[in-house]
Amino acid sequence: MSLYTGIIEKYRDRLPVSADTPVISLNEGNTPLIELRNLPRLIKKNVRIYAKFEGLNPTGSFKDRGMTMAVTKAVEAGAKAIICASTGNTSAAAAAYAARAGIACFVLIPEGKIALGKLSQAMMHGSVVIQIRGNFDDGMRLVQEVARTTPVNIVNSINPYRLQGQKTIAFEIIEALGDAPDYHVLPVGNAGNICAHWMGYSESVCENTRACALCAGKCTYHKAKTATRRPIMVGYQAAGAAPILRGRPVENPETVATAIRIGNPVSWQQAIAAQQESGGWFGECTDEEILHVQKLLAQTEGIFCEPASAISLAGLLKDLELGKIGEGSTIVCTLTGHGLKDPDIAVSQSTRPMTVDAELDPIERVIREHLPKG
Ligand code: F0G
Repeated sequence: MSLYTGIIEKYRDRLPVSADTPVISLNEGNTPLIELRNLPRLIKKNVRIYAKFEGLNPTGSFKDRGMTMAVTKAVEAGAKAIICASTGNTSAAAAAYAARAGIACFVLIPEGKIALGKLSQAMMHGSVVIQIRGNFDDGMRLVQEVARTTPVNIVNSINPYRLQGQKTIAFEIIEALGDAPDYHVLPVGNAGNICAHWMGYSESVCENTRACALCAGKCTYHKAKTATRRPIMVGYQAAGAAPILRGRPVENPETVATAIRIGNPVSWQQAIAAQQESGGWFGECTDEEILHVQKLLAQTEGIFCEPASAISLAGLLKDLELGKIGEGSTIVCTLTGHGLKDPDIAVSQSTRPMTVDAELDPIERVIREHLPKG
Protein backbone atom coordinates (compact mmCIF):
# COMPACT_ATOMS: atom_id res chain seq x y z
CA MET A 1 0.00 0.00 0.00
CA SER A 2 1.35 3.44 -0.83
CA LEU A 3 -0.84 6.15 0.57
CA TYR A 4 -0.13 9.73 -0.41
CA THR A 5 0.81 11.45 2.85
CA GLY A 6 1.48 15.06 1.99
CA ILE A 7 4.22 17.26 0.60
CA ILE A 8 6.83 16.75 3.32
CA GLU A 9 6.94 12.98 2.87
CA LYS A 10 6.81 13.29 -0.91
CA TYR A 11 9.54 15.92 -1.24
CA ARG A 12 11.49 15.23 1.94
CA ASP A 13 14.85 15.37 0.09
CA ARG A 14 14.11 18.89 -1.13
CA LEU A 15 12.79 20.30 2.15
CA PRO A 16 14.57 21.32 5.39
CA VAL A 17 13.51 18.29 7.47
CA SER A 18 15.39 15.39 9.02
CA ALA A 19 14.40 11.79 9.76
CA ASP A 20 13.51 12.85 13.32
CA THR A 21 11.32 15.81 12.37
CA PRO A 22 7.76 15.22 13.68
CA VAL A 23 5.72 15.77 10.52
CA ILE A 24 2.37 17.52 11.02
CA SER A 25 0.36 16.91 7.86
CA LEU A 26 -3.19 16.68 6.57
CA ASN A 27 -2.05 15.08 3.31
CA GLU A 28 -1.96 18.45 1.57
CA GLY A 29 -0.70 18.95 -2.00
CA ASN A 30 -1.14 16.56 -4.93
CA THR A 31 -3.82 18.90 -6.28
CA PRO A 32 -5.18 18.43 -9.80
CA LEU A 33 -3.79 20.28 -12.79
CA ILE A 34 -6.89 20.71 -14.91
CA GLU A 35 -6.68 21.70 -18.56
CA LEU A 36 -9.25 24.35 -19.42
CA ARG A 37 -10.96 23.01 -22.52
CA ASN A 38 -13.81 25.45 -23.12
CA LEU A 39 -12.30 28.84 -22.32
CA PRO A 40 -9.58 28.87 -25.00
CA ARG A 41 -12.26 28.00 -27.57
CA LEU A 42 -14.51 30.73 -26.24
CA ILE A 43 -11.81 33.40 -26.53
CA LYS A 44 -10.60 31.94 -29.84
CA LYS A 45 -7.00 31.57 -28.76
CA ASN A 46 -4.75 28.68 -29.57
CA VAL A 47 -3.22 28.28 -26.11
CA ARG A 48 -3.04 25.57 -23.50
CA ILE A 49 -4.26 26.80 -20.12
CA TYR A 50 -3.94 24.60 -17.06
CA ALA A 51 -5.52 25.43 -13.72
CA LYS A 52 -3.64 24.19 -10.66
CA PHE A 53 -6.63 23.92 -8.37
CA GLU A 54 -5.27 24.63 -4.91
CA GLY A 55 -8.79 24.95 -3.58
CA LEU A 56 -8.70 21.17 -3.24
CA ASN A 57 -6.21 21.24 -0.39
CA PRO A 58 -7.46 20.08 3.06
CA THR A 59 -8.49 23.55 4.23
CA GLY A 60 -9.34 24.75 0.73
CA SER A 61 -6.33 26.86 -0.19
CA PHE A 62 -2.62 26.71 -1.10
CA LYS A 63 -1.76 27.83 2.43
CA ASP A 64 -1.77 24.19 3.57
CA ARG A 65 1.49 23.54 1.69
CA GLY A 66 3.23 26.25 3.68
CA MET A 67 1.46 25.52 6.93
CA THR A 68 2.47 21.84 7.11
CA MET A 69 6.10 23.01 6.99
CA ALA A 70 5.70 25.98 9.35
CA VAL A 71 3.81 23.98 12.00
CA THR A 72 6.09 20.96 11.64
CA LYS A 73 9.14 23.14 12.25
CA ALA A 74 7.43 25.01 15.10
CA VAL A 75 6.63 21.72 16.84
CA GLU A 76 10.15 20.46 16.18
CA ALA A 77 11.48 23.58 17.90
CA GLY A 78 9.20 22.95 20.89
CA ALA A 79 6.68 25.74 20.24
CA LYS A 80 3.41 25.55 22.15
CA ALA A 81 1.63 28.32 20.24
CA ILE A 82 1.54 29.83 16.76
CA ILE A 83 0.22 33.17 15.58
CA CYS A 84 -0.59 34.81 12.26
CA ALA A 85 -2.23 37.86 10.75
CA SER A 86 -4.54 36.90 7.94
CA THR A 87 -7.07 37.88 5.33
CA GLY A 88 -8.63 34.48 6.06
CA ASN A 89 -6.93 31.55 4.41
CA THR A 90 -3.72 31.59 6.42
CA SER A 91 -5.78 31.67 9.61
CA ALA A 92 -7.89 28.72 8.42
CA ALA A 93 -4.79 26.67 7.66
CA ALA A 94 -2.97 27.71 10.84
CA ALA A 95 -6.00 26.79 12.95
CA ALA A 96 -6.33 23.35 11.33
CA TYR A 97 -2.65 22.42 11.53
CA ALA A 98 -2.39 23.71 15.12
CA ALA A 99 -5.35 21.50 16.01
CA ARG A 100 -3.64 18.55 14.35
CA ALA A 101 -0.45 19.29 16.30
CA GLY A 102 -2.24 19.91 19.59
CA ILE A 103 -0.83 23.41 20.06
CA ALA A 104 -2.51 26.79 20.53
CA CYS A 105 -3.27 29.13 17.64
CA PHE A 106 -3.92 32.88 17.67
CA VAL A 107 -5.17 34.64 14.56
CA LEU A 108 -5.47 38.37 13.90
CA ILE A 109 -8.00 39.25 11.23
CA PRO A 110 -9.44 42.52 9.94
CA GLU A 111 -12.89 42.89 11.47
CA GLY A 112 -15.69 42.32 8.96
CA LYS A 113 -13.31 41.83 6.05
CA ILE A 114 -12.77 38.11 5.87
CA ALA A 115 -14.98 35.70 3.99
CA LEU A 116 -17.46 33.68 6.03
CA GLY A 117 -16.08 30.25 5.16
CA LYS A 118 -12.60 31.22 6.32
CA LEU A 119 -13.85 32.71 9.57
CA SER A 120 -15.89 29.58 10.26
CA GLN A 121 -12.77 27.44 9.77
CA ALA A 122 -10.64 29.42 12.24
CA MET A 123 -13.48 29.27 14.77
CA MET A 124 -14.31 25.60 14.23
CA HIS A 125 -10.70 24.45 14.64
CA GLY A 126 -10.60 26.17 18.00
CA SER A 127 -8.11 28.96 17.39
CA VAL A 128 -8.32 32.18 19.38
CA VAL A 129 -9.73 34.63 16.84
CA ILE A 130 -8.82 38.25 17.46
CA GLN A 131 -10.61 40.69 15.16
CA ILE A 132 -8.80 44.00 14.88
CA ARG A 133 -10.22 47.37 13.95
CA GLY A 134 -7.67 47.70 11.20
CA ASN A 135 -6.54 45.95 8.03
CA PHE A 136 -4.20 43.05 7.25
CA ASP A 137 -1.15 45.30 7.19
CA ASP A 138 -1.91 46.51 10.73
CA GLY A 139 -2.29 42.88 11.79
CA MET A 140 1.03 41.92 10.21
CA ARG A 141 2.81 44.69 12.09
CA LEU A 142 1.16 43.76 15.39
CA VAL A 143 1.97 40.07 15.03
CA GLN A 144 5.65 40.89 14.67
CA GLU A 145 5.52 43.17 17.69
CA VAL A 146 3.67 40.73 19.94
CA ALA A 147 6.01 37.88 18.99
CA ARG A 148 8.81 39.84 20.67
CA THR A 149 7.03 39.89 24.02
CA THR A 150 5.08 36.58 24.10
CA PRO A 151 6.06 32.95 23.35
CA VAL A 152 4.30 32.61 19.99
CA ASN A 153 5.77 31.35 16.73
CA ILE A 154 4.84 33.42 13.65
CA VAL A 155 3.48 31.33 10.76
CA ASN A 156 2.99 34.13 8.24
CA SER A 157 5.15 33.91 5.13
CA ILE A 158 7.96 35.90 6.80
CA ASN A 159 8.51 32.48 8.38
CA PRO A 160 10.86 30.97 5.75
CA TYR A 161 9.42 27.47 6.19
CA ARG A 162 6.13 28.66 4.71
CA LEU A 163 7.69 29.37 1.32
CA GLN A 164 9.66 26.12 1.50
CA GLY A 165 6.39 24.22 1.68
CA GLN A 166 4.68 26.34 -0.95
CA LYS A 167 7.49 25.82 -3.48
CA THR A 168 6.30 22.22 -3.91
CA ILE A 169 3.52 23.44 -6.19
CA ALA A 170 6.14 23.98 -8.90
CA PHE A 171 7.48 20.44 -8.39
CA GLU A 172 4.02 18.99 -8.97
CA ILE A 173 3.40 21.10 -12.07
CA ILE A 174 6.69 20.04 -13.62
CA GLU A 175 5.90 16.41 -12.85
CA ALA A 176 2.50 16.70 -14.48
CA LEU A 177 3.62 18.57 -17.60
CA GLY A 178 7.05 16.99 -17.96
CA ASP A 179 8.64 20.46 -17.85
CA ALA A 180 7.89 24.01 -16.72
CA PRO A 181 5.16 25.88 -18.65
CA ASP A 182 5.95 28.96 -20.77
CA TYR A 183 4.05 31.24 -18.39
CA HIS A 184 2.85 30.96 -14.83
CA VAL A 185 0.14 33.41 -13.75
CA LEU A 186 -1.04 33.93 -10.18
CA PRO A 187 -2.55 36.42 -7.72
CA VAL A 188 -0.28 38.59 -5.58
CA GLY A 189 -1.27 39.74 -2.10
CA ASN A 190 1.37 39.57 0.59
CA ALA A 191 3.60 38.37 -2.28
CA GLY A 192 4.99 35.22 -0.68
CA ASN A 193 3.46 32.76 -3.07
CA ILE A 194 4.99 34.17 -6.25
CA CYS A 195 8.40 33.89 -4.56
CA ALA A 196 7.66 30.31 -3.47
CA HIS A 197 6.66 29.34 -7.02
CA TRP A 198 9.84 30.88 -8.37
CA MET A 199 11.94 29.08 -5.78
CA GLY A 200 10.33 25.77 -6.71
CA TYR A 201 10.88 26.29 -10.42
CA SER A 202 14.44 27.50 -9.86
CA GLU A 203 15.35 24.47 -7.77
CA SER A 204 14.07 22.23 -10.53
CA VAL A 205 16.46 23.34 -13.26
CA CYS A 206 20.17 22.92 -13.72
CA GLU A 207 21.76 25.45 -11.39
CA ASN A 208 24.86 25.91 -13.52
CA THR A 209 23.03 27.30 -16.47
CA ARG A 210 19.42 27.83 -15.44
CA ALA A 211 18.07 27.51 -18.95
CA CYS A 212 20.59 24.75 -19.61
CA ALA A 213 21.92 26.50 -22.70
CA LEU A 214 25.49 25.52 -21.85
CA CYS A 215 25.13 21.99 -20.58
CA ALA A 216 22.44 21.07 -23.12
CA GLY A 217 21.01 18.67 -20.61
CA LYS A 218 24.20 16.66 -20.24
CA CYS A 219 25.75 17.78 -16.95
CA THR A 220 25.24 15.61 -13.90
CA TYR A 221 23.49 18.44 -12.11
CA HIS A 222 20.97 18.69 -14.87
CA LYS A 223 20.28 14.99 -14.86
CA ALA A 224 19.20 15.10 -11.24
CA LYS A 225 16.82 17.94 -12.01
CA THR A 226 13.39 17.74 -13.46
CA ALA A 227 12.93 20.76 -15.75
CA THR A 228 14.89 22.28 -18.61
CA ARG A 229 13.66 25.83 -18.10
CA ARG A 230 11.74 28.21 -15.85
CA PRO A 231 8.50 29.95 -16.75
CA ILE A 232 7.84 33.66 -17.17
CA MET A 233 6.10 34.75 -13.96
CA VAL A 234 3.11 37.08 -14.15
CA GLY A 235 1.47 38.38 -10.97
CA TYR A 236 -1.86 40.16 -10.71
CA GLN A 237 -3.09 42.56 -8.05
CA ALA A 238 -6.55 44.00 -7.49
CA ALA A 239 -6.81 47.57 -8.78
CA GLY A 240 -7.73 48.89 -5.31
CA ALA A 241 -4.89 46.99 -3.64
CA ALA A 242 -1.99 47.22 -6.07
CA PRO A 243 1.03 48.57 -4.16
CA ILE A 244 3.56 46.83 -6.39
CA LEU A 245 2.08 48.39 -9.52
CA ARG A 246 1.79 51.82 -7.91
CA GLY A 247 5.35 51.57 -6.58
CA ARG A 248 4.26 52.59 -3.06
CA PRO A 249 2.20 51.16 -0.18
CA VAL A 250 -1.57 51.58 -0.46
CA GLU A 251 -2.86 52.92 2.84
CA ASN A 252 -6.48 51.80 2.57
CA PRO A 253 -6.55 48.83 0.20
CA GLU A 254 -10.01 47.85 -1.03
CA THR A 255 -11.17 44.97 -3.19
CA VAL A 256 -13.93 42.41 -3.37
CA ALA A 257 -11.13 39.83 -3.40
CA THR A 258 -10.61 40.15 0.36
CA ALA A 259 -7.83 37.52 0.37
CA ILE A 260 -5.55 39.98 -1.43
CA ARG A 261 -6.75 43.16 0.26
CA ILE A 262 -3.19 44.08 1.21
CA GLY A 263 -1.44 47.43 0.88
CA ASN A 264 2.10 46.71 1.99
CA PRO A 265 3.24 43.19 1.08
CA VAL A 266 5.92 41.62 3.24
CA SER A 267 7.71 39.92 0.31
CA TRP A 268 7.54 42.96 -2.01
CA GLN A 269 11.22 43.10 -2.98
CA GLN A 270 11.60 39.34 -3.44
CA ALA A 271 8.49 39.33 -5.63
CA ILE A 272 9.98 42.00 -7.87
CA ALA A 273 13.19 39.99 -8.06
CA ALA A 274 11.23 36.90 -9.18
CA GLN A 275 9.32 38.90 -11.77
CA GLN A 276 12.46 40.51 -13.16
CA GLU A 277 14.57 37.36 -13.17
CA SER A 278 11.85 35.51 -15.04
CA GLY A 279 11.26 38.29 -17.55
CA GLY A 280 7.67 38.63 -16.38
CA TRP A 281 5.44 41.48 -15.27
CA PHE A 282 2.70 42.56 -12.86
CA GLY A 283 -0.80 43.49 -13.95
CA GLU A 284 -4.01 44.58 -12.31
CA CYS A 285 -7.72 43.78 -12.57
CA THR A 286 -10.80 45.62 -11.39
CA ASP A 287 -13.33 44.00 -9.07
CA GLU A 288 -15.76 43.74 -12.00
CA GLU A 289 -13.20 41.85 -14.07
CA ILE A 290 -12.44 39.52 -11.17
CA LEU A 291 -16.08 38.65 -10.50
CA HIS A 292 -16.87 38.27 -14.19
CA VAL A 293 -14.10 35.73 -14.66
CA GLN A 294 -14.88 33.91 -11.40
CA LYS A 295 -18.34 33.25 -12.78
CA LEU A 296 -17.13 32.53 -16.31
CA LEU A 297 -14.77 29.84 -14.98
CA ALA A 298 -17.48 28.33 -12.80
CA GLN A 299 -19.96 28.22 -15.67
CA THR A 300 -17.74 27.21 -18.58
CA GLU A 301 -15.32 24.81 -16.89
CA GLY A 302 -17.08 23.73 -13.69
CA ILE A 303 -14.34 25.09 -11.45
CA PHE A 304 -15.39 27.20 -8.48
CA CYS A 305 -12.56 29.31 -7.11
CA GLU A 306 -12.63 32.32 -4.83
CA PRO A 307 -12.39 35.89 -6.20
CA ALA A 308 -8.69 36.33 -5.31
CA SER A 309 -7.93 33.19 -7.32
CA ALA A 310 -9.99 34.28 -10.32
CA ILE A 311 -7.77 37.34 -10.75
CA SER A 312 -5.05 35.11 -12.20
CA LEU A 313 -7.35 34.05 -15.00
CA ALA A 314 -8.89 37.52 -15.39
CA GLY A 315 -5.42 38.99 -15.85
CA LEU A 316 -4.41 36.19 -18.20
CA LEU A 317 -7.43 36.74 -20.45
CA LYS A 318 -6.53 40.44 -20.69
CA ASP A 319 -2.89 39.74 -21.46
CA LEU A 320 -3.88 37.19 -24.12
CA GLU A 321 -6.16 39.77 -25.69
CA LEU A 322 -3.34 42.34 -25.66
CA GLY A 323 -1.00 39.82 -27.27
CA LYS A 324 1.43 40.01 -24.34
CA ILE A 325 1.10 36.23 -24.16
CA GLY A 326 1.26 34.74 -27.62
CA GLU A 327 -0.57 31.94 -29.40
CA GLY A 328 0.89 28.49 -28.90
CA SER A 329 1.87 29.20 -25.30
CA THR A 330 1.41 26.82 -22.41
CA ILE A 331 0.18 28.63 -19.32
CA VAL A 332 -0.38 27.44 -15.77
CA CYS A 333 -2.71 29.45 -13.60
CA THR A 334 -2.77 28.94 -9.82
CA LEU A 335 -6.32 28.92 -8.51
CA THR A 336 -5.31 29.59 -4.93
CA GLY A 337 -8.52 28.97 -3.01
CA HIS A 338 -11.94 27.30 -3.25
CA GLY A 339 -15.05 29.29 -4.11
CA LEU A 340 -16.88 27.87 -1.10
CA LYS A 341 -14.62 29.99 1.08
CA ASP A 342 -16.71 33.01 0.17
CA PRO A 343 -20.33 31.92 -0.24
CA ASP A 344 -21.67 35.49 0.18
CA ILE A 345 -19.91 36.65 -2.98
CA ALA A 346 -21.12 33.64 -4.94
CA VAL A 347 -24.73 34.07 -3.88
CA SER A 348 -24.74 37.82 -4.40
CA GLN A 349 -23.72 37.55 -8.05
CA SER A 350 -25.77 34.53 -9.08
CA THR A 351 -29.35 34.07 -10.26
CA ARG A 352 -31.66 33.70 -7.26
CA PRO A 353 -33.24 30.26 -6.88
CA MET A 354 -36.96 30.24 -7.71
CA THR A 355 -39.62 28.83 -5.41
CA VAL A 356 -42.60 26.90 -6.77
CA ASP A 357 -45.36 24.77 -5.34
CA ALA A 358 -44.48 21.11 -4.84
CA GLU A 359 -46.33 20.05 -7.98
CA LEU A 360 -45.33 18.66 -11.35
CA ASP A 361 -46.73 21.47 -13.52
CA PRO A 362 -44.58 24.44 -12.49
CA ILE A 363 -41.47 22.31 -12.45
CA GLU A 364 -42.15 21.03 -15.95
CA ARG A 365 -42.73 24.60 -17.13
CA VAL A 366 -39.41 25.78 -15.71
CA ILE A 367 -37.56 22.89 -17.34
CA ARG A 368 -39.11 23.63 -20.75
CA GLU A 369 -38.19 27.31 -20.40
CA HIS A 370 -34.57 26.55 -19.59
CA LEU A 371 -33.78 23.58 -21.85
CA PRO A 372 -31.09 24.31 -24.47
CA LYS A 373 -32.70 25.30 -27.78
CA GLY A 374 -32.49 23.04 -30.82
N1 F0G B 1 -5.05 33.86 -3.12
C1 F0G B 1 -5.62 33.57 -1.95
C2 F0G B 1 -6.88 32.76 -1.96
C3 F0G B 1 -5.04 34.01 -0.74
O1 F0G B 1 -5.61 33.71 0.42
C4 F0G B 1 -3.86 34.79 -0.80
C5 F0G B 1 -3.24 35.29 0.43
C6 F0G B 1 -3.30 35.05 -2.05
C7 F0G B 1 -3.92 34.57 -3.18
C8 F0G B 1 -2.05 35.84 -2.22
O2 F0G B 1 -0.92 35.11 -1.87
O3 F0G B 1 -0.09 36.62 -0.11
O4 F0G B 1 1.36 34.84 -1.05
O5 F0G B 1 0.76 36.82 -2.42
N2 F0G B 1 -3.76 35.20 1.57
C9 F0G B 1 -3.11 35.57 2.83
C10 F0G B 1 -3.97 35.13 4.01
C11 F0G B 1 -2.63 36.94 2.89
O6 F0G B 1 -3.87 35.73 5.09
O7 F0G B 1 -4.72 34.17 3.87
P1 F0G B 1 0.36 35.89 -1.33
